[in-house]
Amino acid sequence: METVRVQDIATLSNLKGSIPDDYIRLENEQPETTTIKGVVLKVPVIDLSDPDHQFVLASVSEASKDWGIFQVVNHGIPNELISKLQKVGKEFFELPQDEKEVLAKPIGYEGVEGYGSKLQKEVEGKKGWVDHLFHRVWPPSLINYKFWPKNPPSYRKINEEYTQSIVPVANKLFGLLSEGLGLEEVELKQGLGGEELVYLMKINYYPPCPCPELALGVVPHTDMSAITILVPNEVQGLQVFKNDHWYDVAYIPNALIIHIGDQLEILSNGKYKSVYHRTTVNKEKTRMSWPMFLEPPPEIEVGPVQRLISEENPPKFKTKKYKDYVYCKLNKLPQ
Ligand code: OGA
Ligand code: NI
Repeated sequence: METVRVQDIATLSNLKGSIPDDYIRLENEQPETTTIKGVVLKVPVIDLSDPDHQFVLASVSEASKDWGIFQVVNHGIPNELISKLQKVGKEFFELPQDEKEVLAKPIGYEGVEGYGSKLQKEVEGKKGWVDHLFHRVWPPSLINYKFWPKNPPSYRKINEEYTQSIVPVANKLFGLLSEGLGLEEVELKQGLGGEELVYLMKINYYPPCPCPELALGVVPHTDMSAITILVPNEVQGLQVFKNDHWYDVAYIPNALIIHIGDQLEILSNGKYKSVYHRTTVNKEKTRMSWPMFLEPPPEIEVGPVQRLISEENPPKFKTKKYKDYVYCKLNKLPQ
């Protein structure tokens, strides 16, 4: 079976300023009618090198409660490493189509890893203007190198280096997020499987779109992860839902964008908010992004931390295995 990729559609010469119907969103979803224009939202920006621990702690905790999203700067990951990560990812997506198809998700396969064009079952059968690649990068026992690009040859080494450098950033964030709830520094990460925590890399590739005002990249969603650590390229596209409207999130070179995902909302019993977000696409430019999803292993049970529960604060979420959470969410079943 031939699967048509968005990247193929975008290069068709007969598009002539239009896009296939499947990609035209319903009016109540279109960026044209739903985005607050001219306002670029400054989500909180946090300097992780700030020696004032209490200030960093308060900033992370407030941002996670009010927004569910923030950006971090001076995070310790060298800018050159981020550039290299972007370069090798871009080189993969610029390979001839048949070379990318080698990594395609097999038909009928239920896993998340591989090259593909669509993840969720979407509203009214509409599609997002985006292709993607997923592969796990940590822990070693869960890595399937068959889903990692062989080309460019440095892809593997750079992704391994990037993963190594993300680990201390992730640990620092989990420590702050834990303290922000009045828990011990290690408690949240422990609740997510500790050293078994799974790191899943995704690359989004949003080709130029003749009608960006009518289409969406990734449709509105919250991430299932505990947190997501995202590197974008310089093309505007990420939007968050705030006060009933969609806003563009400011691009800050070399910052990492942190999303609070569903599992942290659950563990914190709703204190931290899983951010509702989506992406738009650009008429001339290719947008790319590299979200790294930090998730509990499939068999770990996630529920509100016991210490945050009391008579006045009953659990707002069920406790269940992460794999069951994922199954329900992907199949749009009640949690
Ligand atoms: C995602 C996502 C945002 C982006 O892939 O889950 O939200 O900026 N991506 O591409
Ligand atoms: Ni997302």
